[in-house]
Amino acid sequence: MKNREKRQVTRAHTLLHGGDYNPDQWLNRPDVLADDLKLMKLAHTNTYSVGIFAWSALEPEEGVYTFEWLDDIFETIYENGGNIILATPSGARPAWLSQTYPEVLRTNEMRLKQLQGARHNHCFSSPVYREKTQHINKLLADRYGNHPALVMWHVSNEYSGECHCELCQEAFKEWIKDTYHNDLTALNDAWWGPFWSHTFNDWSQIQSPSPIGEEAVHGLNLDWLRFVTDQTIDFYKNEIVPLRELTPSIPITTNFMADTDDLIPYQGLDYGKFAEHIDVITWDGYPAWHNDRESTADLAMKVGFIDDLYRSLKQQPFLLLESTPSAVNWHTVNKAKRPHMHLLSSMQMIAHGSDSIMYFQWRKSRGSSEKFHGAVVDHDNSSENRVFKDVAEVGQTLEKLSDVAGTTRPADVGILYDWENNWALKDAQGYGLETKRYTQTVQEHYRTFWEKDIPVDVIMKEQDFSSYKLLVVPMLYLLSLDTISRLKEFVANGGTLVSTYITGIVTEHDLTYLGGWPQDLQDIFGMNPLETDTLYPSDRNKVRYSGKEYELKEYASILEVNQAKIEGEYLEDFYANTPAITSHSFEKGKTYYIGGRLEQAFHEEFYGDIIKELGLSPIFPVKHEKGVSVQARQSETEDIIFVMNFTEEEQVVIFDKPVWDKLNDEELVGEVTVEKYGIKVVAVPLTN
Ligand code: GAL
Repeated sequence: MKNREKRQVTRAHTLLHGGDYNPDQWLNRPDVLADDLKLMKLAHTNTYSVGIFAWSALEPEEGVYTFEWLDDIFETIYENGGNIILATPSGARPAWLSQTYPEVLRTNEMRLKQLQGARHNHCFSSPVYREKTQHINKLLADRYGNHPALVMWHVSNEYSGECHCELCQEAFKEWIKDTYHNDLTALNDAWWGPFWSHTFNDWSQIQSPSPIGEEAVHGLNLDWLRFVTDQTIDFYKNEIVPLRELTPSIPITTNFMADTDDLIPYQGLDYGKFAEHIDVITWDGYPAWHNDRESTADLAMKVGFIDDLYRSLKQQPFLLLESTPSAVNWHTVNKAKRPHMHLLSSMQMIAHGSDSIMYFQWRKSRGSSEKFHGAVVDHDNSSENRVFKDVAEVGQTLEKLSDVAGTTRPADVGILYDWENNWALKDAQGYGLETKRYTQTVQEHYRTFWEKDIPVDVIMKEQDFSSYKLLVVPMLYLLSLDTISRLKEFVANGGTLVSTYITGIVTEHDLTYLGGWPQDLQDIFGMNPLETDTLYPSDRNKVRYSGKEYELKEYASILEVNQAKIEGEYLEDFYANTPAITSHSFEKGKTYYIGGRLEQAFHEEFYGDIIKELGLSPIFPVKHEKGVSVQARQSETEDIIFVMNFTEEEQVVIFDKPVWDKLNDEELVGEVTVEKYGIKVVAVPLTN
């Protein structure tokens, strides 16, 4: 027998290329499976996520198992040199399961029990579903855990949503009791009980939020979302018990998501918390390239942001687990990627820290709702169409870049993003209901660094701040005393902190601070924001900063300055000529406060000054016009620089020093042309 070498993708030595592979949809078509193998070679793919929605093919009747087809897939993929990421099938249930055990069905916030159908809709508390999923997972781990093709577990699929059934109500009550240490008074205090007479005198009165019941208690809403995160993680932890037990060396992931329009991280779960429980961050990225609302570069900035966020969750490379080689089927308009965009968008993922390009899906399904979703293999079964060739090009490129796998992205700048903050801010009935736009605001602060090629980590409030020179904390409305003291320590130790309007308004229970802005914030910023003026969308004000005037919209904080230095003033309205931007030296560090929502030109100037002051720079400077992005990864021996043209024109970039073109094996120096949607990947040896 041949030596069956165990694949090791975790000890990074290769970039993964492949995707969701659903042979369970084609079991009566051996010809199709044979074609898959031929096409996989031509597509230069190496890794396949299998079994994601295969429960009814694995267990067609309760207790009757049909693993033989999966045995064959494991063998054939292995023999052909491929890796398997094996999914647990909990994302979609067979009909027999819901029919026999209706408790597994989800109940929505209107308290309506759902019917069998679709997917991602089970109750996370149901003991039966927990038992059933753990059981099938154990059988999978028993059978395939030692198979040399297995490189990772893909647990469930895109965990999401809420269940409001009786089991979940009970679990919620227990969670609340635990969180408030069995102290009902503490709960009533935290939820501001007397408001509208909502004080509880018994734990049994607590219910999950609902449009036909309670939605006005902000502390409850926030705690419910925390509970949903914890309960989902708990369900996941139950799923992975047999995997950890039987396959301790196989890494475990579950795939994260983003919405399409602004690539906002999925808001139903606190991924910051979830990340602690998984080994490798993976996410499914479907940016709407070539849309009619924004430039290609604007969208690329948002992709950079979410990549930097998901990479920073564990400060290690992530995997792009799903993407489309061309169009999807669920955007309002499903536009094909234009020539070169597939390679460019894939390289952007690698540049920001992905160790893979994976697709949904390998082969387009023949029926049901995803039959027109982009795939590597289309209904024509051909390797000759444009999309297949684009995929093969990405595969060949990844093969040339295999030494990028496992490399890092060092950053001196941290930008803080917080799920709980967004939940609370969205709930806040104040400010502009339509204009808060927390994530988009954080993206706008990120933009300047992206445009200037300065690497950024997008971090959680729980992460260690000490390695950053600059910490940017926009609109952190929900800010606990604990985080405030950690920010204070960061500044006291020499860090530079930038914050903005609508920061430090409520505690972790969504209760406002009494007696003005927390004293520690007043100390480190040397000023006190007295009032926040919310403007109508068409209102404008102006701020003068560094001798220039910048447009302000939507928010302006009126500041009382004690020790801070005034860096900019409002020019209009009843607070004209009062401070708008301040700075303050505190112990070894410095803070800046931006009082209003200012245009991008301001951010460019303002952060430009801070970048100079702190000596921040790109990993390797490349001169270029706007719309070209230069991102870097670093190995022990070299910087790997990705130059990406997100404009619709050819661009000339300038390398001041010679670099090595890793894709064309040649030296480049001076002016270099990068075609429309073109890329260059170059290496610069580390000098020390
Ligand atoms: C993802 C999902 C896949 C597929 C894909 C289509 O959210 O995980 O199973 O439905 O969307 O874009």
